Amino acid sequence: METYTKFVKDKIDFKVDFAIIIGSGLSSILDRVQIVKKISYQDIPDYPVSTVAGHTGELIFGTLSGKNVLVFNGRVHFYEGYSMREVASSVYLAHAIGANNMIITNAAGAVNTTLKVGDIMLIRDHVNFIFADNPLRGEQGNERFVDLIDAYDKEYLAKVSEVAERKGINIKEGIYCAVSGPNYETMAELNLMSRLGIDAVGMSTVPEVIVARYLNMKVLGFSCITDNVFVDGKVTHEKVLDIANRCGKDISCLIEEFLKEI
Ligand code: HPA
Repeated sequence: METYTKFVKDKIDFKVDFAIIIGSGLSSILDRVQIVKKISYQDIPDYPVSTVAGHTGELIFGTLSGKNVLVFNGRVHFYEGYSMREVASSVYLAHAIGANNMIITNAAGAVNTTLKVGDIMLIRDHVNFIFADNPLRGEQGNERFVDLIDAYDKEYLAKVSEVAERKGINIKEGIYCAVSGPNYETMAELNLMSRLGIDAVGMSTVPEVIVARYLNMKVLGFSCITDNVFVDGKVTHEKVLDIANRCGKDISCLIEEFLKEI
């Protein structure tokens, strides 16, 4: 067992149903969680700590819509220098304490020009452009040849769409592409992605989803569209955080309602 898993298991006896990993500026879900316990990432041995503004760095155990949840308030990224396996520590930890489901959110730039700033995009599928590494690289067991067809659970996608319609929240659906970062894309890269049918681009999520699927967890993913370079020009991290904060309220509402019905 990983050191961090043992540490957390010793601190709390809590069987998690859903792991919720929240991206840059998207922490408003925490206003809806009945909190049972918090553990700072810094206090957990061998657990990667985020160095990015907008990522607090704490585990939050609690209940939301009657489900036991573990919220990862802040994540680490490949561009911080961590390996993809380290980036997915949250998923290994959540699974080890019972989670069979993962909800993941991120801030992303629009590649598809029909996506507008502030839109919520349900992730239907992904493209992994972090070619240099893979969270399962080097393992010799079932980690090899993990099937990623239907990586994003079809039933969960349909349920969220139904909830969104009922709540009058406008959502889109599309393909998320992960890049290593930490720079934003060139115009040539964005044009290439557009030609490939990619809808949105960001610097996270894919490592966690690969590991979650290896562990047979069901996955639901949301992107908050924080910028559209084709339309608005330059991206800044401040702008990304500002839009994500606003988008976070609707995503939180969708997650809360989704959990009530699942
Ligand atoms: N590119 C990559 N990552 C991002 C972007 C973007 O435009 N916006 C938010 N995260």
